[in-house]
Amino acid sequence: MAGASEGLGAAFATALAARGLNLLLLARRTSPLEGIAEQLRAGNGVDVRTESFDLGREDLPAALESLTSGLDAGLIVYNAAYAPVGDLLTREVDDLQRVVDVNVRGPLVFARLLAPRMVARGRGGMVIMSSLAGNQGAPRIATYAASKAFNTVLGESLWHELRPHGVDVVVSCAGAIRTPGYATTAGRDAPGTLDAKDVAEATLKALGHGPVVVPGMINRVARFVLGRVLPRRAAIEIFARSTKELS
Ligand SMILES: NC(=O)c1ccc[n+]([C@@H]2O[C@H](COP(=O)([O-])OP(=O)(O)OC[C@H]3O[C@@H](n4cnc5c(N)ncnc54)[C@H](OP(=O)(O)O)[C@@H]3O)[C@@H](O)[C@H]2O)c1
Repeated sequence: MAGASEGLGAAFATALAARGLNLLLLARRTSPLEGIAEQLRAGNGVDVRTESFDLGREDLPAALESLTSGLDAGLIVYNAAYAPVGDLLTREVDDLQRVVDVNVRGPLVFARLLAPRMVARGRGGMVIMSSLAGNQGAPRIATYAASKAFNTVLGESLWHELRPHGVDVVVSCAGAIRTPGYATTAGRDAPGTLDAKDVAEATLKALGHGPVVVPGMINRVARFVLGRVLPRRAAIEIFARSTKELS
């Protein structure tokens, strides 16, 4: 589980532990990670290992190899993301590159290094968290939105490539989710906002029915209207109205 210390990542960890899976939970902050792990061990009798791990680190491939050597990874959930808010001109280059490191390079490296083990076993799964923001231009979160477009297309492609090997891939294109991260940037719920628990459950249920799941009816309608009905310019304009509120 990449990005498991709070919010949706914690909800995924809880849902997976309830299904009896042993877990390796990754995030930067040790204390919330260990708190979640304690609860899951006690409540479900599963093994839960935690590791303070920066997914944006430069040596990600080597560090991931070393962390997971000898591990029989049956399911990867790449949940972590970095989502700075502000017009491109107001953000430092290093900060924007970090979005690419965590949101783009991260899932790519996880897939490339861990999928071969699942292919060798003839079964496995991968969940990649994406967002409705990745379906059209999203002013003020441009780099994040572009990284989510990458997540969607990466997941869809891997769904097709890995399916013949028994490995299910699903991309979850979520709308707003009640998480600490969302609360900090949005301040109040957008239409269709879902609880993290519901998004985690809908996403895990969609494994095997990929390539894409959009949790929540309002979000499915929004994706259809913005992506298929409206001209591209209008879709960007509407999305810009919602991202104008973010801070
Ligand atoms: N929340 C929403 O409204 C929403 C909407 C659409 C899509 N999504 C997607 O859903 C996913 C989760 O969203 P969220 O709101 O739960 O995010 P979040 O609150 O920001 O939490 C993300 C998790 O990832 C970890 N993380 C972040 N950067 C990391 C790094 N460099 N290295 C290791 N771990 C890192 C965080 O833990 P540490 O801080 O301890 O490292 C945390 O556990 C993301 O992929 C996001 O794009 C969210």
